[in-house]
Amino acid sequence: MRELEGETTGTGQTTETPFSALVAHLREDGTTRLAVEKKTVSSLYMPDPYRSLPAVTIRVHYSSLNYKDALSASGNRGVTRSYPHTPGIDAAGIVTASEDTRFEEGQKVIVTGYDLGSNTSGGFGGMIRVPGDWVVPLPAELTLRDAMILGTAGFTAAYGVKKLLDNGLMPIYPGHDKPHSGMEEGSKPGNSQLDNSQPGNHDKAENPSLPVLVTGATGGVGSVSVGILHRLGFRVIAVTGKPEAREYLRSIGADEVRDRSFVMDVDASRLLLSGRWAGGIDTVGGKLLEAMILQTAQAGVIACCGNVTGHELHTNIYPFILRGVGLMGIDSALCDMQIRQNLWKRLATDWRPAHLDKILAREVGLHELKEEIDTILKGGQTGRVLVVHE
Ligand SMILES: NC(=O)c1ccc[n+]([C@@H]2O[C@H](COP(=O)([O-])OP(=O)(O)OC[C@H]3O[C@@H](n4cnc5c(N)ncnc54)[C@H](OP(=O)(O)O)[C@@H]3O)[C@@H](O)[C@H]2O)c1
Repeated sequence: MRELEGETTGTGQTTETPFSALVAHLREDGTTRLAVEKKTVSSLYMPDPYRSLPAVTIRVHYSSLNYKDALSASGNRGVTRSYPHTPGIDAAGIVTASEDTRFEEGQKVIVTGYDLGSNTSGGFGGMIRVPGDWVVPLPAELTLRDAMILGTAGFTAAYGVKKLLDNGLMPIYPGHDKPHSGMEEGSKPGNSQLDNSQPGNHDKAENPSLPVLVTGATGGVGSVSVGILHRLGFRVIAVTGKPEAREYLRSIGADEVRDRSFVMDVDASRLLLSGRWAGGIDTVGGKLLEAMILQTAQAGVIACCGNVTGHELHTNIYPFILRGVGLMGIDSALCDMQIRQNLWKRLATDWRPAHLDKILAREVGLHELKEEIDTILKGGQTGRVLVVHE
């Protein structure tokens, strides 16, 4: 990193002004010890080649907890190579100093993904220092707090929705005129097109009356996906392993709530099964995604982002060559900056889930994060955990 000693970082602070950070220390047995410690901007770590780029220093007001943070905090070397390390792939805050002329002191910004919190010191610290190329100006319609209720989970959900729309899926009730959740009996889905202001083209859709699935629905990506798809007028089936979360999922926009067996109790040795849905967003992977692919109808589209149940995927060619099913991967960390800014703008406006307040599970400080990390690793979180810095 560049020499920082004595540099001011705005509002009378210097690179030696201490702030609090949650630091993961790796033990010899591969487990980690988490501690809240005092750090300084000059002690922040950024690996090559990023450290040679013009940097922006940001006072972090909010971060959030994602599954990847829990992996980093628990010593997963696939996410974080070297420890001690401050996780936190999300940060929203105010620029205190910038070597990059696109940003100025006092500007509100968002940083999600790239290397933040993986090997670069992350948003579980009160300050971050990152290349300007990673920084997104906060859209005027969004607060720093709401940006981090959404965080990487919300951004990933939006990116998944974009992939569905770009590849031809259409809402049943476009134009925000969707009947109240739960009116599935007797409803008459329309066939009208999205207006052209929506991204992508919709020529391919052949299953406008079928619902879409969201798996891992109570999780961060899942919850925001349900919220966005509901707002856009899709008929949403939330697939969950938490029967107690039924009311929660209905309240954020699910038309139906189903146990995972709804998808998985099939003869998965078959090469194709009856098409039951138009696709959807999968956050889980593994056997749930395998069963979802086999039952996706003609010209359906699935956007997948998760590996909660592992990294393997066994399928066959027929859903793809006989039904034209599309399986789209989501790589939110390295998403193109123009797409990234557009998606944040949509999240701030016409794609914003109607019930962000319900998707927010808890606000926590750094000292309370360890318990939340343990819970997310067990698949036990419902909604989003917001991290608030002092
Ligand atoms: N590719 C990308 O760009 C990207 C970006 C963000 C996240 N991700 C990945 O997406 C996944 C979800 O992230 P997240 O932050 O939303 O995590 P999360 O909040 O922990 O949500 C994961 C959800 O998966 C379900 N689940 C947990 N264990 C399961 C199991 N054994 N079998 C089936 N379902 C299980 C649970 O929902 P239910 O109980 O409701 O089923 C859980 O809430 C993670 O794998 C994460 O790494 C990828």
